[in-house]
Amino acid sequence: MASILDSVPDGMIVIDETGKIVAFSRAAEALFGYTAAEIIGRNVRELMAGRDESNHDQYIQNYLQTGERRIIGIGRVVTARKADGTLFTMDLKIGEAKIGEHWLFTAFVRDLTEQRKAEMRMREMQ
Ligand code: HEM
Repeated sequence: MASILDSVPDGMIVIDETGKIVAFSRAAEALFGYTAAEIIGRNVRELMAGRDESNHDQYIQNYLQTGERRIIGIGRVVTARKADGTLFTMDLKIGEAKIGEHWLFTAFVRDLTEQRKAEMRMREMQ
């Protein structure tokens, strides 16, 4: 599992249904500035800020109770938080897998900071 994760170019983060991080790829380490060893076992909330950080456990609970997908299979651009507190714009895609009675959620994440800057420069040039 760990070596597969390390070969993925985008950051990949796996959580359980309580939001606890169970896997964190090498690209995710580079993106967030946490090592897998320090972040595994902590809640994925620590990678976000503000209202999302406060409500993320509830977002997962809502999904488990209603089955209503807000990001799974759709994707979303969100604001994420690095270990040093820096906020950045990130593309978030989430997949799900049911293992026995339990769910695992797998996220692919990509830093959009450079893309955003390029878009701004393009706009200024027009
Ligand atoms: C739902 C934010 C990372 C798993 C959500 C929602 C938001 C959100 C806004 C939906 C709220 C709604 O519209 O009701 C964020 C932010 C992240 C982040 C800002 C930045 C780090 C992750 C990661 C995972 C994850 C890394 C999994 C590995 C989920 C799940 C749901 C959810 C399972 C519920 C299912 C769904 O809405 O489709 N999150 N999230 N999130 N998130 Fe996150």
